[in-house]
Amino acid sequence: MFRSTGIMLTSIASALLIAACAQRQVSFHNDVEPILQRNCATCHSQSGVGYQASGFSVESFAALMKGTKYGPMIDPGSSEQSNLVWLLKHRAHPQINMPKICAQMNLVGDKCAHAADSARDLKKREINLIATWIDQGARDN
Ligand code: HEC
Repeated sequence: MFRSTGIMLTSIASALLIAACAQRQVSFHNDVEPILQRNCATCHSQSGVGYQASGFSVESFAALMKGTKYGPMIDPGSSEQSNLVWLLKHRAHPQINMPKICAQMNLVGDKCAHAADSARDLKKREINLIATWIDQGARDN
């Protein structure tokens, strides 16, 4: 009797542990921001082509949440409803998939060389981190 209660408690505890791991709290500053800085900031900060064209900046939490000149790209609590995730998963129109490559933006010479360094598709793991962070409420954590 005691023994089986013990086993049951142990399995409940490990189930909770597994759930806790799957739902690890993603941090904006430690997890999400570095990905955006590395892959988007060359174009999406004050003087960047992406910022100038769309108003979308990744320079701060506040700027990211503000979105583009047309409005937010993130819907806190729902990655499925967040345009940002659609763009990153390439589910949007190919013309607006991110990151951009030079040819899509008619960038040439130095401007392109500079931008191209950062223009690569995010890894699945990186996209999932961003999506989980949004699902967890897109907090300034
Ligand atoms: C090489 C430059 C470049 C890089 C790198 C880049 N973007 Fe962009 N981005 C642009 C340009 C230019 C636009 C303007 C709209 C367009 O041309 O479609 C844009 C527009 C956007 C928009 C607004 C939607 C739209 O199409 O108007 C979002 C959101 C966006 N980018 C997110 C990102 C994210 C997130 C990253 C990093 C993963 C990223 N971008 C990387 C150049 C870039």
